[in-house]
Amino acid sequence: MRFSPEFLDEIRSRLSLVDVIGTNLSLRKRGNYYVGLCPFHREKTPSFIVTPDGGHYHCFGCGAHGSHFQYLMLIEHLSFPEAVEKCAHLAGVPLPVSTEHEAQSKFYEELYALNHDAAQFFTQQLYLAKNQKVLDYCLNRGLNKGTMGYFALGYAPNDWHALKNNLLSKGYSQELMLKAGLLIYNEEKKVVYDRFRDRLMFPIFDHQERIIAFGGRALGGQDPKYLNSPETLLFKKGEILYNRSNARRNLKSGNNIVVVEGYMDVITLHQYGFTQAVAPLGTAFTGEHLKALWRFSPEPIFCFDGDEAGQKAHLRAIDVALPHLCAGKSAQFLMLPENEDPDSYLRKFGAPQFQKLLDQPTSLFKKLIEYETKTTPSDTPERRALLISKLQDKGKLIQDALVEKCYQDILREQFGMTQFTQKRNFTPPRSNAPRPVDPSMFSKKQEAALLLSLISNPSLLDSLFEPLSNVSFQEKPLEDIRNHLISYVSLGSSLEKSDIVAYLEKTGNSNTLKAIESDASLKTLFPFLRKEMHKDQVQKEWHDIYQRYKNTHPSIEKNANAPDLLSEDGWTQFLKTREAQFLEENDAL
Ligand code: UTP
Ligand code: MN
Repeated sequence: MRFSPEFLDEIRSRLSLVDVIGTNLSLRKRGNYYVGLCPFHREKTPSFIVTPDGGHYHCFGCGAHGSHFQYLMLIEHLSFPEAVEKCAHLAGVPLPVSTEHEAQSKFYEELYALNHDAAQFFTQQLYLAKNQKVLDYCLNRGLNKGTMGYFALGYAPNDWHALKNNLLSKGYSQELMLKAGLLIYNEEKKVVYDRFRDRLMFPIFDHQERIIAFGGRALGGQDPKYLNSPETLLFKKGEILYNRSNARRNLKSGNNIVVVEGYMDVITLHQYGFTQAVAPLGTAFTGEHLKALWRFSPEPIFCFDGDEAGQKAHLRAIDVALPHLCAGKSAQFLMLPENEDPDSYLRKFGAPQFQKLLDQPTSLFKKLIEYETKTTPSDTPERRALLISKLQDKGKLIQDALVEKCYQDILREQFGMTQFTQKRNFTPPRSNAPRPVDPSMFSKKQEAALLLSLISNPSLLDSLFEPLSNVSFQEKPLEDIRNHLISYVSLGSSLEKSDIVAYLEKTGNSNTLKAIESDASLKTLFPFLRKEMHKDQVQKEWHDIYQRYKNTHPSIEKNANAPDLLSEDGWTQFLKTREAQFLEENDAL
């Protein structure tokens, strides 16, 4: 849903930011603003400021900055529309409805109602005397009626038209049932019939507890064993996880979600008190699934079957996770004994035993090394090199520069080597592979960020000209760009981006320029490089990096006036100056 700027303004004007932030953070009033400890980084003295009139928060320590919605998105892990909806609710502002949206939402409401009634039909069937054998099947598998009710299990009778006729009698159209995936249309024979027959039915709920699809387990040995609804308007398999909203609600703080392979695993775990389990639905686990879980569980624990297929699924999950890893967000793994799945394990060994496993999962990183070391011996230099190059290849899948650097650091510690990435000739040449990351990568990125932000905001070159001339870059091609920028500005030439870029290209810097412009990790690492950033914000961030950079690179000439950010006093002084600057700017607004 799109929200108009007026609508967002109305929420902001009716809902004090102090009320939003003050619910989980203690704020002290100071003049006409509030201060507190920044929730976005660790600190001992408060540098987090909320200006209720401006409707903004700002942290002088880490640069976090935003208004109502950004705050809730970060703190409560909401999406933008969710954050807006929550604020609208708190502010008592009704959500806007467009006519197009209204028609669409009416159609969706019908689909939800249809699925709801279908689920009701299935549950009624389960408890009919003539279907006692199905109930017995469930009870024999150890499910109790409470659990069956919680998951709204049902039974699709062994009949080609039972569901269709029942729903027709309730006034639903055949067309809607086809759209919902409940019926199948056979084009050759021109007949329509029930998709699910003689199956134990598992309704699938979305984040708002609405039924959007079904899974059905064969009871008469039909193929496939589990049949799921097809993808429909409501059911996106790559995003939906079975039991996600219950698991989220039940998750105790400090615990992580458990990811298992199937419906029965989730349900048995629940019955044994592990109510935080989810499962993908007839598809492999995706990056979207993982990102959705990270919003409330930083390191979900994967627990697949204890056989070769389960092991493979774990490795697939690692490959899926690697490109998305970022600070604090990862996955963990728990291996079951051969031939057990969580369902059978719990039945055999009980909850306390499973809890023990759950208490010591293996980290993604350890799991990866464990697996590669097991499959590639390292008893000769060549085999050891192969092992290390395999692990380095995995590392290249990591997109986040900082995580990748930490990964390389740990590899280096683990294998007791000091500089293996720098001896390039030991790695087979790979034309289209990304270059291996070396230890100074992070500072190269900082250098690139300093340049890129100036090229994108050339008007800043005036005010940042001096610091730019003080710093000397360690990376030769970047130092070249810097030198050309300096001479360009000293000539008094136009500060238009296109002119500057043309000049840099003319002076032989186009390759370097292209490389830093297309480096996506820069924008992740330095959000101030994003297009929508205000110039003043860019300037602030630029200064921050520049200061820190100088402190960690003693080779760079020190500006005598710059505060020493490594000392406590210098830091306090810096914060004070920044705070004064910020308040001055805000008064000016
Ligand atoms: P399993 O075959 O391991 O079944 O499939 P299970 O969960 O142990 O089921 P029970 O104990 O025999 O009842 C694991 C998951 O893979 C998906 C389902 O989501 C299932 O729960 N699957 C399996 C399918 O989608 N289709 C199939 O034909 C088989
Ligand atoms: Mn099973």
